[in-house]
Amino acid sequence: MTTSELQDRGMIREIVAGMRSKYITLERDRKIRERLDRLLSMDANGNSLIAADDSRADGERRGLAVVGGAGSGKTSLINKAVDNHPDLQPSSAAPIPVVRVTVPNPATSKSLAFEVLKKTGYTELAKKRATAWDAWNDVRVRFKLLGTVLLVIDEAQDMFPRGSKSEAHDILRTLKTLMQDEGGVAVVLCGIETLFERLSVDFQADRRFKKFELGPVNVTADGKLLRGLVSTYCDMAEVARPEPADLIERLAHAGRYRLGLCIEQIIAAIEIALMRGDKTLEIQHFAEAFFEQEACEVGRNVFLSPRWSKIDLG
Ligand SMILES: Nc1ncnc2c1ncn2[C@@H]1O[C@H](COP(=O)(O)OP(=O)(O)OP(=O)(O)O)[C@@H](O)[C@H]1O
Ligand SMILES: [Mg+2]
Repeated sequence: MTTSELQDRGMIREIVAGMRSKYITLERDRKIRERLDRLLSMDANGNSLIAADDSRADGERRGLAVVGGAGSGKTSLINKAVDNHPDLQPSSAAPIPVVRVTVPNPATSKSLAFEVLKKTGYTELAKKRATAWDAWNDVRVRFKLLGTVLLVIDEAQDMFPRGSKSEAHDILRTLKTLMQDEGGVAVVLCGIETLFERLSVDFQADRRFKKFELGPVNVTADGKLLRGLVSTYCDMAEVARPEPADLIERLAHAGRYRLGLCIEQIIAAIEIALMRGDKTLEIQHFAEAFFEQEACEVGRNVFLSPRWSKIDLG
């Protein structure tokens, strides 16, 4: 490879990394911010941030379930909302206002409590033969000490494993007491669609977790948004936009109608165009990116098949 080819490769890598790290602010960002605000309020003196009053009959009652298909953008959305929230920044009074964990495997009450403790910088775990009850008590103490007002639990559907004995009920009961405690925390659970169904079954009487849904992309309503995304990324990579009439429809289908997956397809197609030195993004680039991702036959490539809308991607 010549020096200039190597330089080109380096530049392409940089452009692609830039596209991957770009966060596009959407209407859903405004909505999740609103919901977060309802989970939180100030104390009676108007000073420190606390979880909103749990006894409030109307409000969000401290629990929110962010649900959407795999790749819809749940983790990115909640992370960005927390990172950008002016009242959720670490301070000397509240060094860790938000604790974010991913449900560990196996998902027991104790393993989750340990995961939470780890995220609070707790280092005594190895020494301790703690029970789940002890561990959650330590969580409570750490939260008070660190000014934690919000606990975000990602991949929360994994609390409900199939086939094995689930401790989801114990975990949910514990979360409920964490939320109810005086000065308790608000809890956000993120997970795929089954999460909310499972929550409703296990937590039926309570309805403590309100739903925030990242619904499927709808080409009629979101066509403009998708076209805008293609343009934005093309501009970043300095390639001309593609023209094919039904590209957006095919893109939505190939991305399983999940926004994050659609974004990943756009970036992958642009990367292929850049590698080829092509100046315009074409449907062929999308088709090749799709082959790489799905390892499918021509007839099952959503960007090539005339009967693409009939292709079931599962
Ligand atoms: N607003 C956004 N701007 C740019 N990229 C985004 C945005 N939202 C999501 N993405 C991208 O979409 C992809 C999927 O997003 P993310 O991982 O947040 O989805 P998820 O719903 O949490 O998926 P999973 O269920 O697999 O955990 C990632 O590559 C992410 O960078
Ligand atoms: Mg995620």
